[in-house]
Amino acid sequence: MKNPWICISLALLHSSLYASEYEYMTWRADTGVQIYGKPPQCIDIPEDLRLCFNVGYDKMMLPNLLEHETIAEVKQQAGSWVPLVHKACHPGTQLLLCSLFAPVCLEKPLYPCRWLCEAVRDSCAPIMEAYGFPWPEMLTCDKFPQDDVLPCIAMNETTSNSMAKPADHPPVCPPCDNEMNTDVILEHMCASEFAIKTKIKEVKIENLDRKLILQKKRKPLKLVTLKKQDLKKLVLYLKNGADCPCQQLDNLGKNFLIMGRFVGKQYILTSIHKWDKSSKEFNKTLKKLKSHKCATHETVFK
Ligand SMILES: *[C@@H]1O[C@H](CO)[C@@H](O)[C@H](O)[C@H]1NC(C)=O
Ligand SMILES: *[C@@H]1O[C@H](CO)[C@@H](O)[C@H](O)[C@H]1NC(C)=O
Repeated sequence: MKNPWICISLALLHSSLYASEYEYMTWRADTGVQIYGKPPQCIDIPEDLRLCFNVGYDKMMLPNLLEHETIAEVKQQAGSWVPLVHKACHPGTQLLLCSLFAPVCLEKPLYPCRWLCEAVRDSCAPIMEAYGFPWPEMLTCDKFPQDDVLPCIAMNETTSNSMAKPADHPPVCPPCDNEMNTDVILEHMCASEFAIKTKIKEVKIENLDRKLILQKKRKPLKLVTLKKQDLKKLVLYLKNGADCPCQQLDNLGKNFLIMGRFVGKQYILTSIHKWDKSSKEFNKTLKKLKSHKCATHETVFK
């Protein structure tokens, strides 16, 4: 996703790009906002920092605005957000996240604008909730500047509004809205605690959720934190999924590739795909699934 407007606003700010270390230290002493252990470096955004490669600018500052000191740490933490960007809940999601994970190289840190944060939060928080994640602390919008007070990172508001999904279009349940794409599925697996092959016996509505009762036979493909004895008792919930469409559940006869994680007292469905052996892509996914090494199995969307 290229964002031409960023290039324009960066050009205006270019004069402050190569400030001396002296100026940097002065600024730091004056504001005391961002205390770095060492002066920031400006490095190329690496291609495998998938969250931010192609965000619209090429270089990033390290440490970043989340106080990650090494690029390895940035990659590890950023990886768990990639699925959210794929969800396309808001066109500004990637920009918001990258303004923090991979900030543009400037003398002073440029934070995301509060309205951008709020717009992304309003669109994406319900989706994160569907996965059992609260809106994270690091994205508390109140701590970001208002654009009439301080310069900040934003996107063109008109573009932002016109690209947002129309509200009258009923959204597909997020865990059901996944492409048959190996990379996407592997990302989901890394954000989940287990992946199994099973059939679904019955689907019930329970409060705001849909409850998935599985058949006895459950073949684990990956158990990260789920124990074998818990697999036997496993019942899954499609969180806030009582009303949203989930096309996969229209036909229960076949096997599914199901992923989930434990939140509070429930196992939450994070992803569901038909077990489709006629799909080359699915075969490829299965091949990679068992050997794939995730950067982290910590919770996503922290
Ligand atoms: C935003 O984009 C619209 C249409 O592309 C344009 O008319 C408007 O001037 C832009 N606004 C800003 C602030 O760049
Ligand atoms: C997928 O693999 C199965 C065997 O595991 C094979 O029977 C099937 O033809 C393959 N499908 C495709 C599209 O390659």
